Amino acid sequence: PTPVVLDVDTGVDDALALMFAVRSPHLDVRAISCVAGNADVDQVVSNTFAVLDALEAPDIPVGRGAERPLVESSRDARHIHGADGMGDQKLPTSDRLPADGGALDVMRRAILDSPEPVTLVPLAPMTNIALLLRAYPEVRENLAGIVAMGGAAEGGNATAVAEFNVWHDPEAAAIVLGAGVPVTMYGLDVFSRVVIEAETYEVLRDDPDPAVALAGRLLAHSHDIIRSDPRVGHGGLIGDAGAACVVAQPDLVTVRRWPVHVELAPGRCRGQTVVDRRYILGEDAVHGVEPLGHLVDVAVEIDAERARDLFL
Ligand code: BDR
Ligand code: CA
Repeated sequence: PTPVVLDVDTGVDDALALMFAVRSPHLDVRAISCVAGNADVDQVVSNTFAVLDALEAPDIPVGRGAERPLVESSRDARHIHGADGMGDQKLPTSDRLPADGGALDVMRRAILDSPEPVTLVPLAPMTNIALLLRAYPEVRENLAGIVAMGGAAEGGNATAVAEFNVWHDPEAAAIVLGAGVPVTMYGLDVFSRVVIEAETYEVLRDDPDPAVALAGRLLAHSHDIIRSDPRVGHGGLIGDAGAACVVAQPDLVTVRRWPVHVELAPGRCRGQTVVDRRYILGEDAVHGVEPLGHLVDVAVEIDAERARDLFL
């Protein structure tokens, strides 16, 4: 299995990603780091432990990370994810505590201690990841790559042009894209495609396995909230879990290697990932195009049916 470190702001769909990653035979979750995003960081830590308890996964180290973005103050997404940031599930409170040393230490150790290169999977604002790469640049030597839920080639959700994770901490996203580690961008273009239809999540809700039943409830919540988004098909969105599916099976997505720039200027376009689709790898000179930003593997298409089946 591929060793992974997940960075989460649990989060309805982060919870689905944790479930998939912990149960997938293709992935080995070495550590989890928490960051403010969908909810404040303490709520995120508590939601993450509640999910791990439901999964009966007591041994994965969890680190508490950044309370706020690098420059701006925090703005949560409770209007989407519920008052507890997780669809108001009222899950039992875990008695686990986050690891001493915090998120950066947990991530650094998991990466440097691994005999094989680790894939870093940010499913949240990239504050922790930017801080890690700046504080401990040596971790790059043992990273296979970064597969991040963030950004979009086209359109946004937090604003007309910006995707939530990048919009929440644009400076962090800019640092991560420019850190010299290969990045795959699992953005809204593919994120919005993978859904579980109502007939299936209803069955999951009745499953005797508490984690599977929780997944069914989270998918029902996601379906209710996101019904009005025309980009999403009929069903509960697996969201961030799709990025974890892609680490397990990279050929689920078609990628194009394009320059991506994170817009940092104040104003309506702040947080937009400007994807330079004029750029044709190796042919930029021919087209006279000066690439804007850093080269990133942008996921442009996904085999949504296969991703759904893999998730299930
Ligand atoms: C991203 O924002 C969060 O609300 C979701 O968990 C996902 O990571 C989608 O824009
Ligand atoms: Ca998330």
